[in-house]
Amino acid sequence: MTEPCQQAVPHIVIFDSGVGGLSILQAARQQLPHCRFSYLSDNAGFPYGNKPASQVIDRACHVLTSFTQQVKDVDIYVIACNTASTLALPRLRRHFSRPVVGVVPAIKPAALNSKNRYIGLLATPGTVKRSYTKRLIQEFAADCQVVCVGSSALVELAERKLRQLPITTDELLPILKPFLTAGKANPSPDKLDTLVLACTHFPLLAAEIQQVVGSDIYLIDSGAAIARRIEYWAQRIVPAGYSSQQPTYAWFTRDDQNIVELAPTLALFGFKSSRILP
Ligand code: DGL
Repeated sequence: MTEPCQQAVPHIVIFDSGVGGLSILQAARQQLPHCRFSYLSDNAGFPYGNKPASQVIDRACHVLTSFTQQVKDVDIYVIACNTASTLALPRLRRHFSRPVVGVVPAIKPAALNSKNRYIGLLATPGTVKRSYTKRLIQEFAADCQVVCVGSSALVELAERKLRQLPITTDELLPILKPFLTAGKANPSPDKLDTLVLACTHFPLLAAEIQQVVGSDIYLIDSGAAIARRIEYWAQRIVPAGYSSQQPTYAWFTRDDQNIVELAPTLALFGFKSSRILP
């Protein structure tokens, strides 16, 4: 008897420095339940948000190239990291022949949503200062007051939460305070009606952030829009090879204790085992 024919499905790799890309994975899986997903975390290079631009670009290219050599059948690359996308997309798109989808700050939808023309941007220190981000603000939110806050501490809190370690809203308060109190960059905090979560780690803390900033502020992230962009490519590419039955893994660039602590979360996201990139 012959084996039932299993149709090849797109293999999508979701890449981030740490666990942030899991927020994108969640949205992508919802939109494309039939696709194969691998997760790739450059935990050896984490965090990206306070590193010089050239270092982030080199690491992203190096890690994704090693991954491609190892795994071979990647159909779509998703750079699920605002810090890396705002820097490395042109180079990655030149380098890989398959589509590369980037995640960049959701300034445009935030400006469309804001009634008061007063929005907040919460990102890594790197993303806040990049010219890419400044161009997005000029292009889509020139008529808005934009209050920018860069935080690496919040990235660490998201990492902790996903390792099932306790975090408290008291730890979030000093990070989010610039949105809530008047200052030079934030003359009328009461007008702020929309907050962009422009680091993929932050939607993982959406409930905690909402609790601190209050329910009147609308939180926006890129997850759903990126899922639609991945779907656009998934409908257009010819998959390299494997059926949805073929296992995929969460990959890391360094073996450490954090991976053990992350195992229950990774299982919830569909990864029963991890691999270390050689
Ligand atoms: N998750 C990443 C982002 O969206 C960055 C986290 C880090 O600092 O490595 O920007």
